[in-house]
Amino acid sequence: MKEIGKIWMNGKLVPFKDAKVHVLTHALHYSTSIFEGIRCYDTPNGSAIFRLPEHVDRLFKSAKLYSMKMQFSKKIISDAIIKTVQVGGLKESYIRPLAYYGYGTMGLTPTTNNVDVSISCWEWKMGESEAGKFSGAKCKVSSWIKIDSRSQPMQAKAASNYANAALARMEALENGYDEAIMLNYHGKVAEGSAENIFIIKDDIIQTPPLSAGGLEGITRDSIIRIIEKNGGFVIEQDLERDDLYNADEIFMTGTAAEVKSVTQIDKVKIGNGKMGNITKALQKSFTDVVMGKDERFLPWLTFI
Ligand SMILES: Cc1ncc(COP(=O)(O)O)c(C=O)c1O
Repeated sequence: MKEIGKIWMNGKLVPFKDAKVHVLTHALHYSTSIFEGIRCYDTPNGSAIFRLPEHVDRLFKSAKLYSMKMQFSKKIISDAIIKTVQVGGLKESYIRPLAYYGYGTMGLTPTTNNVDVSISCWEWKMGESEAGKFSGAKCKVSSWIKIDSRSQPMQAKAASNYANAALARMEALENGYDEAIMLNYHGKVAEGSAENIFIIKDDIIQTPPLSAGGLEGITRDSIIRIIEKNGGFVIEQDLERDDLYNADEIFMTGTAAEVKSVTQIDKVKIGNGKMGNITKALQKSFTDVVMGKDERFLPWLTFI
């Protein structure tokens, strides 16, 4: 991690190395934090944050699901995100707003503790999340089952959801794969460890409904809207493991992953084992959008 710029903590910009919390911070013990992952792209017209209002909305939605009383408004958080990016001076970056129950009462009930907020930003170049971006990722169907909303609110981007995701990701990597695909308790496809998933069969693009347990990804939404704007459509329906093996093409979407092709699942080759044409075309369309080259989607960019 290159320690560049400053970190915004509860309204103050502090030097990167000084952005510290107390060891008795509630979230450290009980996972009571929520966060966002946002990209800022180096476009030909300057640096631009992709879908900033949608990310801030999701942060507040996550906070509500954990009864967190945010001490800052959406406007203050949005302005603070822009400020943190500007102060960092990076053209391309990954931005991590985080809200967490802080230091105060130690016990399971955090609601009397302050909800502290930080915004960090670090260097992240386009396409840096490489597995599958250019050549195709090899994925393992995880032996870990995706937790669901009977246990925790899955539409919160909450740290507590990521222990499950990290187990799946580690298992996949330890077994020589690039990424995990998680099934839910009904055996239906939920998502990757940190990406939504799409399959293409006979030119029909399909993705699991959010009720399958995946996060309402902003990249997922962007891809669906790009497809629709270009005259196509996406069918949301439950997918089985068989659907994965039989697909002609598979891709995953996420802020970090962008549009990532999947060419193998377990020991099964997907389609001809190479990135498919539809995935390739969508990667290009998505890149055009984030780079500000598609005027129809310019409102998704916040130039800084
Ligand atoms: C579990 C999970 N699913 C899906 C996504 C994709 O969401 P987005 O496209 O908003 O980054 C992410 C990443 O944020 C994630 O962590």
